[in-house]
Amino acid sequence: MDEKTTVKLVRRGFFRVLADWCLKFILLVTAGGGAIMSLSFMFPPRKLMQRLTGWVPTVDNKGLKKGEVAQVMFNGTPVYVLKTPEDKLFCYSAVCPHAACIVQWSTDDQHFKCPCHESVFDSLGNPSGGPATEPLTRLELKTDETGKIFIKLV
Ligand code: FES
Repeated sequence: MDEKTTVKLVRRGFFRVLADWCLKFILLVTAGGGAIMSLSFMFPPRKLMQRLTGWVPTVDNKGLKKGEVAQVMFNGTPVYVLKTPEDKLFCYSAVCPHAACIVQWSTDDQHFKCPCHESVFDSLGNPSGGPATEPLTRLELKTDETGKIFIKLV
């Protein structure tokens, strides 16, 4: 066997071992990914469970005074939980129905105001000024026995 043939055999062996390891690596990654997906299906993360059940905990009803508004993030969007002076609870999306800016609650005059085109919404989410003609999107809510307020995905 001359030197040229020996080099070819060594190179061929090297590539065979390399291909073998690449195949094992791909199988390992595929099996690992499958195992992770199976586990996450059997034990879904809390946020995913909330999406499936629909009710998401927000603020404590006892901590919210009459006439007060709490802003919470819901599904990546700010929403307002409002307790009226009559002790009723409402929840509104903070997204303005005119052009999707985020409205702000004004404690002084008890209205939601949009900074973009100056639409105004009353405490029930109804438009009372500006270009918006649709009310703020109202979200369903409930309280549990501990007083925690939950809002629901729509
Ligand atoms: S986006 Fe709110 S008034 Fe235009």
